[in-house]
Amino acid sequence: MALRKRLRPPKQPRPARRLPQALIIGVRKCGTRALLEMLYLHPMVQKASGEVHFFDRDENYALGLEWYRSKMPLSFKGQITIEKSPSYFVTPEVPERVRAMNSSVRLLLIVREPVTRAISDYTQLRSRATPSVPAQSQLTGQAIANTAKPFEHLAISPDGSINVAYRPIAISLYHAHLHRWLEVFPREQILVVNGDQLIEDPVPQLRRIEKFLGLEHKIGRKNFYFNETKGFYCLRNDTTDKCLRETKGRKHPRVDPTVVTKLRKFFIQHNQKFYDLVGEDLGWPE
Ligand code: A3P
Repeated sequence: MALRKRLRPPKQPRPARRLPQALIIGVRKCGTRALLEMLYLHPMVQKASGEVHFFDRDENYALGLEWYRSKMPLSFKGQITIEKSPSYFVTPEVPERVRAMNSSVRLLLIVREPVTRAISDYTQLRSRATPSVPAQSQLTGQAIANTAKPFEHLAISPDGSINVAYRPIAISLYHAHLHRWLEVFPREQILVVNGDQLIEDPVPQLRRIEKFLGLEHKIGRKNFYFNETKGFYCLRNDTTDKCLRETKGRKHPRVDPTVVTKLRKFFIQHNQKFYDLVGEDLGWPE
């Protein structure tokens, strides 16, 4: 009797958890969440839902790559998994650890004019320290005491010099952090995204990123509408409309314009060093 060929069901593609092929490494308060949510509009992108902090926290890193993989979303073959943890950018151990996972990983660095970023950072630290939301606060006693002070007193030392030890200022010294990444990764592996332009008009920045990630161009004007109340673009796909949470796009406190001018002057030479490293002038005000 001829053997009957057993019919097998056609192979279904199986989703799996994959290590990220792209990372948003920072910079904090430059639009990292907006960028991740916007990229997630693309059908070939999957995102890790929270900030995983695998590479920057020793206790997480010690759990190994399988732990990291378990934090990733399910994805189909060909889809790109993206994770964002903005503290990766400023943590010295991270570039080498990322390289050890995947030396050809794609890195996205979103930046914003550094003085505005510092004020945004201050605004966030201050809001976290308010007693109405103690559960959210992970600040030390010193940081809580600091956030009660006006930005001007924290950013400028009593002798009138710029307080570079103040973290919102230190993080805005982009070249000092990027330097470390460029010791480990070639420049072409890092895409610098203009966070001020992402706020103004997201589509051109997203188009650059799609190209960088080797994705077909899919995210377009149809995916955004400007929300007058929020003052920012909100996101739209076939099924939902969504604005970012109220913690994204906060009102900043008024900062003495002479302090802003002084800080902008201070940043000129640092911004120039950053432009030299990335090979592009971002045109930040002087
Ligand atoms: P502000 O709250 O200071 O305005 P991050 O996600 O890295 O913390 O960045 C937060 C910043 O994302 C916000 O800072 C906001 O300016 C910016 N942003 C960019 N696009 C946005 C959008 N479409 N909706 C809300 N915030 C956006």
